[in-house]
Amino acid sequence: MWLALAVTSFCIAIVAKKIITSRRSSAVVVPVSAAAKRKRKRPPHPPMSPGVPLLGDLPALLIKGPLALIRDHYTRLGSVFTVRVFHLKLTFLVGPDVARHFYQGLDSEISQDEVSQFTIPTFGPGVAFDVDYATRYEQIRFFGDATKPAKLRTYATLMLGEVESHLARWGQSGTVDLKLELEHLVTLVATRCLFGAAVREKMFSEVGVLVRQLNDGMRLVTTRFPHLPIPAHRRRDAARARLGEIFTDIVRSRIQQQQQQGGGTAATDDMLQCLIDSRYKDGRGTTETEVVGMLVSALFAAQYTSSSAITWTGARLLTHTEHLRAAVEEQRRIVARHGGHDDVSSYDVLQEMDTLHRCVKETLRLHPPTLMLLRHARRSFAVRADDGREYEVPKGHTVASPLLLHNRLPHVYEEPDKFDPDRFAPRRAEDRAGGALSYLSFGGGRHACVGEAFAFMQIKLIWSHLLRNFELELVSPFPRTDWTMVMPGPLGKVMVTYKRRPRMKKN
Ligand code: HEM
Repeated sequence: MWLALAVTSFCIAIVAKKIITSRRSSAVVVPVSAAAKRKRKRPPHPPMSPGVPLLGDLPALLIKGPLALIRDHYTRLGSVFTVRVFHLKLTFLVGPDVARHFYQGLDSEISQDEVSQFTIPTFGPGVAFDVDYATRYEQIRFFGDATKPAKLRTYATLMLGEVESHLARWGQSGTVDLKLELEHLVTLVATRCLFGAAVREKMFSEVGVLVRQLNDGMRLVTTRFPHLPIPAHRRRDAARARLGEIFTDIVRSRIQQQQQQGGGTAATDDMLQCLIDSRYKDGRGTTETEVVGMLVSALFAAQYTSSSAITWTGARLLTHTEHLRAAVEEQRRIVARHGGHDDVSSYDVLQEMDTLHRCVKETLRLHPPTLMLLRHARRSFAVRADDGREYEVPKGHTVASPLLLHNRLPHVYEEPDKFDPDRFAPRRAEDRAGGALSYLSFGGGRHACVGEAFAFMQIKLIWSHLLRNFELELVSPFPRTDWTMVMPGPLGKVMVTYKRRPRMKKN
């Protein structure tokens, strides 16, 4: 969702300048109290690349790719460093030790608002960064309530219906673009959980196209110039307006239906109903505009982050046969334990799929939803390095947490570039893989993703169904990453051959 913020910063970083310092510092963040500030000399600002005007590291980015480039900055400058683009200062905090301030700092000190305004044309009025922090905080709580285990149990049943009927259309064997298939499936599943069956039937194809146009309108240039008159922005605005009309009709008719039935909470199973029934702390209900905005935001979040994650999971599993075999074996065991093929997609059984869970988690470690997350320093704060050096990140800097690098730090993860789901198994306690702020694919601290359980459930439900029913083989090369997008997914087609398996049996 507002992960979108992230990639911008990377681009900013690469248009920044050459690096002068070669100090290495992994750090601990220390807030500077006013009294402490008065008593002692202020620490220096983080090391900064003085750089060449404008282009800076752009050539290096094109040659090395983004991960290698940020890694290079990190190796030369340490875990806290600043790059500069024109008047803009971007300070990177790399690693669990320095990430605390980024993720746990108060919004009055380190905020999302200033760096997230570009999402307003996408999500629309009355929600996310169009409202003050207090309102947004409550709206996020509504999402949290709509994705509690009790709700997820219902969604699992709805999801399964969609997955089964979609995959029933596949033949005995064939070749498909897995990326396209899974994107479609994720939209089906998300639409069903959000809006209910009737709406899903009527609106699916149009809503799917409109959400894709919203995503396409969130480009790198958007982050700096959200209203630039380019075709992608015009399509985004038209798509948002049309989604607004469609969803307003849906919300109105649901409320009318509820009133005709004498008010009270309807016994409907979807997220729309949860959002209509939500109440702010002062007792007021959600407005029509807010519900529409939250639906757009949820659909956007559920669609793009999840469909990339689910395709990457397939690409990783199909190129690592030992883990693929282990995941299929787990399905056999679960089918045997639960007495039959058709009873194994309930929310509770999905929780038993530890092997698959670790495969998805490891995939997301290597392919986080975005390069980096951003914040704006509303106040200066100090960051102390492990080597004792202390820096002051000044008020006004943009602060970046580069997820991609963070998730692959060698002092946290053994062989960090290797796909090794077992690193998340309990026995691997020697890895710091489970440590605080060591895994950031769903963010952390104050703004950790509230859709994580929903996303895991969706991905596991779809993949467990595929593993039980099909033998799959990747026949195109392992996909490269599409770094041109704010939320970079697999680039190009992901071609897979499939063959139906005989039904797995109970013991
Ligand atoms: C694989 C799927 C997903 C991934 C990888 C993901 C990742 C993230 C990340 C990294 C953040 C932190 C953003 C920041 O700190 O600036 C976040 C926040 C958020 N996500 Fe997700 N997300 C996913 C799916 C979802 C879904 C399905 C929903 C809703 C149903 C959702 C709702 C949210 C919300 C509301 C926030 C904001 C939380 C806050 O600011 O307090 N996400 N997500």
